[in-house]
Amino acid sequence: MDRTLLVTGGAGFIGSNFVLSWLARGNGRVVNLDKLTYAGNLQNLQSLEGNEKHVFVRGDINDRALVASLLQKYRPDAVVHFAAESHVDRSIVGPDDFIRTNVFGTFNLLEEVRTYIKSSGDSRGFRFLHISTDEVYGSLAPQAPRFCETTAYAPNSPYSASKAAADHLVRAYHETYGVPTLTTNCSNNYGPFQFPEKLIPFMLCQALAGEPMPIYGDGQNVRDWLYVEDHCEALIQVLLGGRVGATYNVGGNNEMTNVEVVEKLCRILDEVRPDRGGSSYSRLITFVKDRPGHDRRYAVDASRLKDELGWIPKESFDSGLRKTVQWYLDHPEWIAAVKSGSYREWVALNYGKREIQCEA
Ligand code: NAD
Ligand code: DAU
Repeated sequence: MDRTLLVTGGAGFIGSNFVLSWLARGNGRVVNLDKLTYAGNLQNLQSLEGNEKHVFVRGDINDRALVASLLQKYRPDAVVHFAAESHVDRSIVGPDDFIRTNVFGTFNLLEEVRTYIKSSGDSRGFRFLHISTDEVYGSLAPQAPRFCETTAYAPNSPYSASKAAADHLVRAYHETYGVPTLTTNCSNNYGPFQFPEKLIPFMLCQALAGEPMPIYGDGQNVRDWLYVEDHCEALIQVLLGGRVGATYNVGGNNEMTNVEVVEKLCRILDEVRPDRGGSSYSRLITFVKDRPGHDRRYAVDASRLKDELGWIPKESFDSGLRKTVQWYLDHPEWIAAVKSGSYREWVALNYGKREIQCEA
């Protein structure tokens, strides 16, 4: 099989893992369109230098002339759409970019894809795979059943609202124009190359720097953790075998409170990188003012994906977290590079004003 994919956002966390997985399998060529915002990082793709199956293009999905020219030039068999502003806290501080990229960007991409497949004559083999989030479903009560594909949308942050809007556009382009779409809604990813603004790499970097590990509110919010390589495998299966027009939930079967996650992380670090002073990293845990509109619980029922395509996650949270910790310990130069630049400004802006509620 030799397919060409136009991947958007392929220099970000999940996108770069996906591009590496796709190319490692010899599945074909990737044209990687990424704006290289603060979250995009070409270091993630360093191992592809000289690989003629990977074409990197720096650009914005809102640049319709660019998107049109890439579609005409490379004639991809599929668009795999990761590009987004993805961090909830940043969407609370400044939602504009989220609407611009996640809503208008998805719209612009869909419009150009519509023109492209119309001009191609036969769109049956083409796929538009849209990567979305479980956050569109809102917040679950403690005992409520997990999110499934028919759960009503109830987004609570500017980020999740913008992703919900994008999901609706994708659905509409399938129903109205017959664009062969696929949508996936996945839970919290973790693993190599994740920018240290999200919980796990942020806490890991704080611990290694001997800085406070700030847990929002009471730390009892629950997330369903998915190892990024399991997610990428799910995406490849959906791309190759998913039902056109369908949505698929992807989850890790790993519901855990934030406190449990951070304590687990500290225990692994205590074992593999003991602190020089001999005390546990857990001494750095602090509880700080909560995130506004903080969703209490996410949990994903991925049985459609299992029943239709046979996908199940391979990694347990313990094994995935160990691999992740080891990857960050093995890549201090990657951490140092991303922690320079705008990272420090973000940490000062987001955490500077959150008064500490109590010490753990
Ligand atoms: P990320 O923030 O790490 O990467 C986003 C990438 O998109 C970056 O490389 C960035 O440069 C690029 N980008 C941003 N705006 C762009 C634009 N206008 N044009 C072109 N490129 C642009 O995000 P991620 O964590 O890898 O998430 C990828 C996708 O998966 C997103 O759509 C996100 O909503 C979704 N998702 C992420 C998670 C998670 O836990 N990380 C969970 C569920 C869904
Ligand atoms: O559920 C999927 C979503 O997961 C994705 O769509 C988003 O792109 C991704 O960012 C993620 O959203 P969350 O808001 O759940 O992820 P985050 O890593 O920001 O936070 C995870 C939990 O940890 C959440 O309950 C907030 C809490 N948290 C986070 C940070 C950064 C803290 O307590 N302290 C922190 O410093």
